Amino acid sequence: MLNIDEIRNQFPSLSLKDNNGNQIIYLDGPGGTQVPNMVIEGISNYYKKCNANTHGEFNTSKETDILMDSLREKASIFLGAENKKCISLGHNMTTLNFSLARGLSKLFKKGDEVIITDLDHEANRGPWKTLIEKGIKIIKINILENGVLDYDDFKNKINDNTVMIAMGMSSNAIGTVNDFTKIKKIIENKDILFLLDAVHYAPHFPIDVKKIGCDILLCSAYKFYGPHIGVLYCKLNLLDKLETDRLIVQDQKAPYRIETGTLNHAACHGVEKAIDFIASLGSGNSYRDKINEAYRKLGKHENKLASYLYNSLSSIKNIEVIGPDFSNLRSPTVSFVHKNKSANEICKLLGKKNICAWDGHFYAIKAIQKLGLEEHGGVTRLGVSVYNNKEEIENTIKVISQI
Ligand SMILES: Cc1ncc(COP(=O)(O)O)c(C=O)c1O
Repeated sequence: MLNIDEIRNQFPSLSLKDNNGNQIIYLDGPGGTQVPNMVIEGISNYYKKCNANTHGEFNTSKETDILMDSLREKASIFLGAENKKCISLGHNMTTLNFSLARGLSKLFKKGDEVIITDLDHEANRGPWKTLIEKGIKIIKINILENGVLDYDDFKNKINDNTVMIAMGMSSNAIGTVNDFTKIKKIIENKDILFLLDAVHYAPHFPIDVKKIGCDILLCSAYKFYGPHIGVLYCKLNLLDKLETDRLIVQDQKAPYRIETGTLNHAACHGVEKAIDFIASLGSGNSYRDKINEAYRKLGKHENKLASYLYNSLSSIKNIEVIGPDFSNLRSPTVSFVHKNKSANEICKLLGKKNICAWDGHFYAIKAIQKLGLEEHGGVTRLGVSVYNNKEEIENTIKVISQI
């Protein structure tokens, strides 16, 4: 079991208080988690000890090269990748996905079909919709009333023209975990690229890209206790085939082939530290064993708190909890609507009590529209992270029940 008090002590922002001396309750994790000392110190130490550009003949630059390499190595273990050549870094997931779409648009041809889903964040829809200009068809998968993808729709829409499926692993709006394994099985032995958006999944579940069999996977470190950096896994030898935006002077090979300009080295070092933080919650012989064990433990903790939150909110008059219940795998993100108040009004009331929660569509606007929630101002979203404790959840339930 995790020692949550010990974990909480590693996050300086958890001790922030408002003017009345009340502690902040951070349930805004799906929009970005808090950051532990390990990450803060890592970034700060980078500036103190190694600040330089890469590939120079002096120590700070050599140190920077070592740190960038070390991050790619750790991230490749974190994602279960073949090796560090599969790990590219970027400003954020959205930017990396736009770059991928531009690169792939030159390989796809008119009449090819790319499948996206109505449950996804726009960051995994918008970039692909730009391909329409090139005569590529964008095929959309429906969601069912309970906020789960319509898997029959996939079966009906995958055909000989399908060149790629771009889908999320988990919904950042309502917590659904998608059955990406089922989709992989349908396209097994077909020449269809399989891209996964792991931004909302990576903070809560371990990822093994080789086991999943995906070609591309994207995540964002600020959702798993790190700084604002996007991380891309691209299957060995695939990135080299893409026509990415390149300067002639830049490295043309993977993993650099999609990276442009100078990266934020300090933040990149922070990403390595965020992965180290997760690994530090587990035990085992190898770094990967530690990561797996950490996710088993943190998953259990988050699931317990989130299912308690889900069930408690479900029993409050005037509250409707949105999204699948906890009988199946889902992320610890609980969204709800109030019968008489907008999602924003609820967040304002929570904000007054020092509870951080987001309202709206969180860029998963299609899902919110399809579930008929747009007029309501979307949903109020409470996300459980590893540092949350039972007391915080109980306080939050109490505040909501008094609205
Ligand atoms: C599921 C999902 N995909 C993509 C994104 C976009 O990530 P980024 O902010 O790194 O561009 C987000 C951000 O909230 C998200 O939750």
